[in-house]
Amino acid sequence: MKSDSVKCAGLATSIALATCLTSVLAGGNSSTERNSSTVPVSLTVAREGGNESSPLLYGVMFEVMITNLTKIFQGDGGIHGQVLQNNGFQGTSLGLTAYAPVGDVNIFQDTSKPVSKAITSSLNVEVPDGVTNYVGFANTGYNGIPVTGATYNCSFWMMGNYSGTINLQLVGSHSGSVYADHNLTVKSTDSKFTEFKTRFNTTYTPKGDNEWHLTFDGSKVAGSSLNFGLIQLFPPTFKGRENGLRDDIATFLDEVNPAFLRFPGGNNIEGLQVDSRWKWNTTIGPVVERPGRESDWFYPNTDALGLDEYLWWCEDMNMAPLLAVWSGKSYGDILSGPDLEPFVEDTMNEMEYLFGDPSTHYGKLRAQNGRKDPWKVDLIEIGNEDDLTGGCETYPDRFNQLYKAIHDKYPHITIIASHGNYSCLPSPLPKDVIIDLHLYRAPDDFVKLFDQFDNQPRNQSVMVGEFGCRNTTAERGVSWPYMQGSCSEAVYMIGMERNSDIVKMATYAPLIQHFGFDNWTPTLYGFDSAPDSITPTVSYFVQKMFASNKGDTILPVHSSTGFGPVYWVASKTGSQYYLKLANYGPEQQTVKVSIPGTKTGKLEMLAGPKYQGDTPYNVQIQTVTTSIFNGQGNYSISMDPWAVAVLAVS
Ligand code: AHR
Repeated sequence: MKSDSVKCAGLATSIALATCLTSVLAGGNSSTERNSSTVPVSLTVAREGGNESSPLLYGVMFEVMITNLTKIFQGDGGIHGQVLQNNGFQGTSLGLTAYAPVGDVNIFQDTSKPVSKAITSSLNVEVPDGVTNYVGFANTGYNGIPVTGATYNCSFWMMGNYSGTINLQLVGSHSGSVYADHNLTVKSTDSKFTEFKTRFNTTYTPKGDNEWHLTFDGSKVAGSSLNFGLIQLFPPTFKGRENGLRDDIATFLDEVNPAFLRFPGGNNIEGLQVDSRWKWNTTIGPVVERPGRESDWFYPNTDALGLDEYLWWCEDMNMAPLLAVWSGKSYGDILSGPDLEPFVEDTMNEMEYLFGDPSTHYGKLRAQNGRKDPWKVDLIEIGNEDDLTGGCETYPDRFNQLYKAIHDKYPHITIIASHGNYSCLPSPLPKDVIIDLHLYRAPDDFVKLFDQFDNQPRNQSVMVGEFGCRNTTAERGVSWPYMQGSCSEAVYMIGMERNSDIVKMATYAPLIQHFGFDNWTPTLYGFDSAPDSITPTVSYFVQKMFASNKGDTILPVHSSTGFGPVYWVASKTGSQYYLKLANYGPEQQTVKVSIPGTKTGKLEMLAGPKYQGDTPYNVQIQTVTTSIFNGQGNYSISMDPWAVAVLAVS
């Protein structure tokens, strides 16, 4: 082994020096060359030196999904806590989806009786003459309703003359078993819609094929009808928040320890047309005033998960919000110059909503909506993938318009450009702007990109705003993550972390999916309406291991060999040291590690056959944690083929 101080001397930063030391001490191997021998790999982690690492490095990206074939229900029917589908009849495509009559009634969507200006129709339940029993309607949720044994909050709007009992039940669709049975007394008139709210207990069932029934005394309505609208059912939400997140799905995400949340897209912000873009101001306030939208991809979003809910979510999970604003590009028209000005103004209204004092117009609105203090948002992205779908030519100007407006008034905000294609970016790019790269790749291609950032200029910060290994041989890339793919993500992340002086943020995407609607993968974890259905993918474990074990300083590592098939990055915070490892190959590898001055801690290991992953309801591969006592600074780590590991010692 020899050091080559001449080669290293010219590098701009100490992280680059760390990178250089690693490969130079390896005898000059380039970082992508492979070493397939099983001779132990020796790594000595330096106690000092290296660069700062971005505290935001590992985050998550969330959007209500996408593509004309894709309904993976990330928001409605996903992380948002409301479990009835089509509850406000939003959009133009759903009709009576998820509704069914209970008893001898006719039901139809009634546009002549809107619940509000935003919720423009309701469900008419017509009761024939002669009915004497309880009748009404069912909602079957998103392929069922989770029944957890907890107390549920329920609300609905009602119009029509009725004074008496409403019965609410949760019933097994196939079994007929009743898991909740609750009466409330209402007094409704035919002059206006009235909202009724109630709470009821449920009895746990492991099955998800349940439906919600609302019935009333048919004898009081026979020969006439009642209207119902904006029905809502919430199991307990994450941190108990009103209109909050589904607790189990959110808790599972919280355990990943993401540092930031990128929202609301992704493609989801863009809109098929200008008018169907994500509009911040129609996602705030009481849900009954939110119209929802027929999204870019032909199915409606209720927008019950709106701007404030995203921000509460960030606060509740201690994540930095990264909010995207509309850049003028839809999949139809692209607006620039004077045509964009009204939308720049709209964005500035959004900023006032976020940051304005309650004495300002929009600051006051925010306070009325339950948030008196300004939101803490330090990261704004201008658009999404604006170098694509006809956006390239105008993006420099569109970016500059929005950048100037936001930066002049809110200089504390770091602005992110929506891509990294310099021919579609302003030149020069304003100082401190971060560029956003999106990479969906096959496993070997990710590994080839391991050194992507090693020789980048150190004055241009990067966010990898979307990445994930896709099995490009499968139709539409669909396949559940498997070890080779997740291991390739780990290799790529090691490459990013080694360069986390410039790679400020990275997020695996997409995030979650409701089984049965899974025509886009990869995703980090999936679930359905059964309470215990949450299934992590092997990529979930990689993200959790990486995000939960990262120091604030990246350390030089002296190695006996070059990178491949074993990859590594070391970091520390104070006296706590972390070494991340990936074995991207079919052979067992022994890694001998020296971290002088450390003794105790843990080793987390994820390993499995190349093409195997966890599958829905079947977790075979997961992180195994071993405690380490009195390691005396030396550790011998045996890595199975296709393994990812983290050594955390102090
Ligand atoms: O994550 C899925 C989509 O892929 C995102 O919406 C878009 O930004 C990217 O093209």
